[in-house]
Amino acid sequence: MSDATIEVYETEDRTFPPSAEFAAGALANDQSLYDEANNDFEAFWARQARELLTWYKDFDQVLDWQLPFAKWFIGGELNISYNCLDRHVDAGKGDKIAYHWEGEPGDTRTFTYSQLLDEVAKFANVLKGMGLKKGDRIAIYMPMIPELPIAMLACTRIGVAHSVIFGGFSPDAIIDRCDDAEAKLIITADAGYRRGAPSALKVNVDDALASRASTVENVIVVNRCDTEVTMAEGRDHWWHELMANASNQCPPEPLDAEQLLYILYTSGTTAKPKGIMHTTGGYLTQVAFTHKYIFDLKPDTDVYWCAADIGWVTGHSYIVYGPLTNGCTSVMYEGTPDTPREQDRNGDDRSAWGKDRLWDIIERYGVTQLYTAPTAIRTFMKWGTQEVERHDLSTLRVLGTVGEPINPEAWMWYHEHIGGGSRPIVDTWWQTETGGHMITPMPGVTTTKPGSACQTIPGVTAELVDDDGNLVTEGGGYLTISKPWPSMLRGIWGDPERFQETYWSRFPGRYFAGDGARLDSDGYLWLLGRVDDVMNVSGHRISTAEIESGLVDHPSVAEAAVVGANDDTTGQAIVGYVILRGGNEASAELSEEIRQHVATKLGPIARPKAVFIVPDLPKTRSGKIMRRLLRDVAEGRDLGDTTTLADAGVVDEIRTRAADSDEE
Ligand code: WTA
Repeated sequence: MSDATIEVYETEDRTFPPSAEFAAGALANDQSLYDEANNDFEAFWARQARELLTWYKDFDQVLDWQLPFAKWFIGGELNISYNCLDRHVDAGKGDKIAYHWEGEPGDTRTFTYSQLLDEVAKFANVLKGMGLKKGDRIAIYMPMIPELPIAMLACTRIGVAHSVIFGGFSPDAIIDRCDDAEAKLIITADAGYRRGAPSALKVNVDDALASRASTVENVIVVNRCDTEVTMAEGRDHWWHELMANASNQCPPEPLDAEQLLYILYTSGTTAKPKGIMHTTGGYLTQVAFTHKYIFDLKPDTDVYWCAADIGWVTGHSYIVYGPLTNGCTSVMYEGTPDTPREQDRNGDDRSAWGKDRLWDIIERYGVTQLYTAPTAIRTFMKWGTQEVERHDLSTLRVLGTVGEPINPEAWMWYHEHIGGGSRPIVDTWWQTETGGHMITPMPGVTTTKPGSACQTIPGVTAELVDDDGNLVTEGGGYLTISKPWPSMLRGIWGDPERFQETYWSRFPGRYFAGDGARLDSDGYLWLLGRVDDVMNVSGHRISTAEIESGLVDHPSVAEAAVVGANDDTTGQAIVGYVILRGGNEASAELSEEIRQHVATKLGPIARPKAVFIVPDLPKTRSGKIMRRLLRDVAEGRDLGDTTTLADAGVVDEIRTRAADSDEE
């Protein structure tokens, strides 16, 4: 393959064998799961499905594979809320804590398994009362409060599929997703706490529903922050009022293993997001398996914390479905890591405001597993170790990372400063589409290398191929998955052709993940990021095409090109280049207004870090924008944080470079 497609870098080879505390554990150097799965991956997954889950009706076929469409555990019937709640309560674990929830201001709520079950059953009855039934879809647009997992689990109780929309998204994103899924209901809150203040949500739902007619009939609103909201008569209902009258008796419905569980939208290379579909039995099997083994779970004593947002797949699989299926105690936190509790605020001395919120939570709850993202780790590195050292983090046993390649320096920092130099780090590679972990070390088993996600989990087969689809056994290549896996996406909602085209056409017979990777001489996998034009900003996948549409949507903009430039903190930063429509004057104000326009249109996460106004865009002879050149120009500059530059040098540099370029 050509070097231009995937840049391959070599890293220093450091290895960390399983530490002494794991050498004595149940998994100590135990290769047997890998051996069993290599021998017969279908039988392996069938055993996991039967051991980790409780079925109403056993399945009679493990896998039906009509490339690219897989069905797992055919004929089996189960209910996810039953697996997450009822069976633990029935087993006498009703008083065990499911969630230690902490709000950003510092308020706390605790839910035992039986309390959670009560709330879920009541809310399932509320949904039934709104006329929802098996197969219907609803949207959820909520802050990180307990009502969010309660709403999701209530859906699973009666076979309704949820589509969680990240709370940072705008009204346009809400209505697009509701339309695509034909959602009948939206569950939201007045607001959620973010960076010390309520951040409004309900008003975005109002704007979304005002923008055009839709299938949404009802809106249920949680009162989280006591902020003023407008309730539309007949359409909008308060969560607490509906729940006050709901019965807590709602038997879980036995559902087919392939019943649609949820749709989660992910950015693609075109402006229209893809509705990734996950179903019931296979998804829960792989998520429960990985949550148990990759975090070396001791369900009776652990206090596990995934510090992600439920608006993304990480939260779906590893805050809600995995931990609850395994009956463990989790921490759930509403806010941002640098927002102190009300009671810890030190007057107006902002310098004393806690950059230690995470470490404080770990110490107070005795957290045993921390699962976070490289972008967060890099932020902590910037803050320094002073705050970390004030806290006792000795309860931690396993550290996880997800979302983008972790650079070896960040890995080492995590290992030394948070893990006390001995806790294993699990660098977990997976995607919304894969549902659960795919490539990751296993604590107690795998010798890790900082920056490498190491190896596939038992039962999953990944292979690298070159441009022509030939196997690569050492060096750089495209990451493909060559056998179906239980939690794989079942397709793109409403668009089977696009499913085939996006994931299965580049290399026939293989799932193409869109990522590049390197295999080293020990067979370790090193992920290299996306090979297409999807950017990864703080672990969020954002497509350049979507942002370009947002830029061109501004009345003064004629044409736009977007690139992801390397950024120390967020991984990649969004940089836009725009050509103005005639009659508009370039100015710093206008470029600021254009940046803001994208945030309003697509949500604050999509706001470009910088927008350069240019007279023309460098193009190849065939008319393709020279993205690499634009990225180089952006990377050669200090992009600042919020201010935008009317940088005349940019235009000159683009011209000179374009003149020198031999790109076809
Ligand atoms: C990237 C998040 C390297 C990758 C679970 C993938 C990673 C995309 C890792 C999926 C990792 C995720 N190392 N890259 N450990 N984890 N990625 O759908 O590019 O939000 O394709 O799922 O994130 O992002 P998504």
